[in-house]
Amino acid sequence: MEFIHRSRRLRANQMIRDMVRETRISKNGLIYPMFVMEGTGIKEEILSMPGQYRYSIDKWMEALEEVTKSGVRQVMLFGIPDHKDACGSGAWQEDGIIQKALQKAKQQFPNLYYITDVCMCEYTSHGHCGILDGSYVDNDKTLEVLAKTAVSHVQAGADMVAPSDMMDGRVLAIRQALDKNHYVTTPIMSYAVKYSSSFYGPFRDAADSAPAFGDRKTYQMDFHNRKEALKEALTDVEEGADIIMVKPGLPYLDILREVTDHVNVPTAVYSVSGEYSMIKAAAMAGYVDEAALVCESAVSMFRAGASILLTYYAKELAVYIEEGRIG
Ligand code: PBG
Repeated sequence: MEFIHRSRRLRANQMIRDMVRETRISKNGLIYPMFVMEGTGIKEEILSMPGQYRYSIDKWMEALEEVTKSGVRQVMLFGIPDHKDACGSGAWQEDGIIQKALQKAKQQFPNLYYITDVCMCEYTSHGHCGILDGSYVDNDKTLEVLAKTAVSHVQAGADMVAPSDMMDGRVLAIRQALDKNHYVTTPIMSYAVKYSSSFYGPFRDAADSAPAFGDRKTYQMDFHNRKEALKEALTDVEEGADIIMVKPGLPYLDILREVTDHVNVPTAVYSVSGEYSMIKAAAMAGYVDEAALVCESAVSMFRAGASILLTYYAKELAVYIEEGRIG
């Protein structure tokens, strides 16, 4: 048999494999999600996410020291308030948990980049992502509180805001509110393509944000849909989103690729709590090689088009990249 194409030529040794690699990843594209709560001296492991913690602000400072050491430069911040109410006022109060945490962190670690999750579900007594009208989440009423929350985060020091509520029109509402307050240079990363997913289960333990009744299907997306993802992404770009996020990650690589190909802004992907917990549990049981799985999963999300990866494994990944396991 005569043939001339031999793909194995470019796989002959590590050096040539490194040279022809198509996907290169950098720790600059990693974002580490973290949870802060009221109180002092608290570093509480999240039961369904071994290795991840809820921190009081003082302990969070120690955790940020570790983040800095790992080489990760961006964090995504979630707040767990002491008091919740029907309209989620803890989200935008000047002495809210996020606001206090940011002020402290910006002083102590000014070289980190702080992104805040803008949503109501951690702050409302009913656990829904907006203001209720009966049992329905009222879209337009929610826009006002989201915009107010985003502005208060930026006032407290947030470098970027990331609305995750899935209300229609929220990117525009937030953009206009930021601009009106002269925060014209603060970018918005929109959780534009956010599916209603069971992969968020462990997060809701972590943030104590499970809805008290019903589910999030009237605002988060149906996972059977693909075209709708493009609609959400394109609408948010039009409304002024600077970065478009797809979430969850691994089960939605098809969507990530398609969205990346259709928008003219960078795409981010959120490898969510359930993805973390699955790998962690399998690793703790001794069934899989944790580092290898984490590396392969991360590369697959960058290969599918993401420029940015939000992951609870960010610190480990930064080390793996430094060690040359992946790159
Ligand atoms: C808040 C929010 C959620 C996540 C990020 N922001 C939970 C939800 O929508 O129920 C999930 C993150 C994760 O699972 O890691 N709305």
